[in-house]
Amino acid sequence: MSKMYRSKKAAEGYDTARALPEHATSLLIDILKENTPVASISSVLDLGGGTGRFSSLLQQLYDCPVYTLDPSVEMLKQGVARNYKNIYWFSSNAEHIPLKSGSIDLIWMSNVYHHLENTAEACREISRVLIDRGNLVIRNGTQETDKEIAWNKFFPEAIEFDKNRIPHKQEIIDFISSHSFNFIEYGVIYQQFASSYQEYYDKISQRGLSSLLAISNEAFNKGCKKFREWVDEQPPDTPVFEPIDHFFFIKE
Ligand SMILES: C[S@@+](CC[C@H](N)C(=O)[O-])C[C@H]1O[C@@H](n2cnc3c(N)ncnc32)[C@H](O)[C@@H]1O
Repeated sequence: MSKMYRSKKAAEGYDTARALPEHATSLLIDILKENTPVASISSVLDLGGGTGRFSSLLQQLYDCPVYTLDPSVEMLKQGVARNYKNIYWFSSNAEHIPLKSGSIDLIWMSNVYHHLENTAEACREISRVLIDRGNLVIRNGTQETDKEIAWNKFFPEAIEFDKNRIPHKQEIIDFISSHSFNFIEYGVIYQQFASSYQEYYDKISQRGLSSLLAISNEAFNKGCKKFREWVDEQPPDTPVFEPIDHFFFIKE
């Protein structure tokens, strides 16, 4: 398992560092409504669901049980404490899903693809637990959209770290399609990540993103200083948007 989210500190700061405004969640709901058969989904697996920050949204949209699986007990604890209804928490990983074959209608995997230890094994498990013609939705940054993210350029070590880790758009499409899935749709959401550049700085400097957790403290502090200087030159009260890729597949 990726070690980054094992620590209590990383788990406790996660939701604040990644909080999304209503506008961003409503864009997400729109894209899910357009590309998944909402009325016929009766079970959802939030794979690598972490703190479950999307589990509740999925539960309400599909009005069905959501199984949230993550290898980090600390991440899961954050969600469990919120006492959401109809969400069931499991400690495991995508390469070993403790659910019956053909028991899930839709699998949602947000920002997990680049953490997988064995992507082929995870694909086999995803395919096994999904019903025939079941839906797989992958929400993940790619090399292409990462280039549009403003804070990145102040942390060259983080860019270097992500070079071998963050997939290209076509890589995801080709890999999943070669594991018994049909590629259905691709879309990018430009979501408001912060309501101002000041808030943008505050969120990034909380170090909730895995590429910032991976670099040295020295590189992080140096980057923050330069990022701060840049932020101070930006116009006030201007929201900051960031792209995030969505991929829709159906099991063959
Ligand atoms: C960036 S977080 C995403 C959490 C959540 N899906 C979200 O979007 O907020 C990545 C999550 O993947 C989990 N993870 C790491 N390796 C995994 C694996 N092999 N299988 C499933 N989840 C994994 C981590 O523990 C962490 O909670």
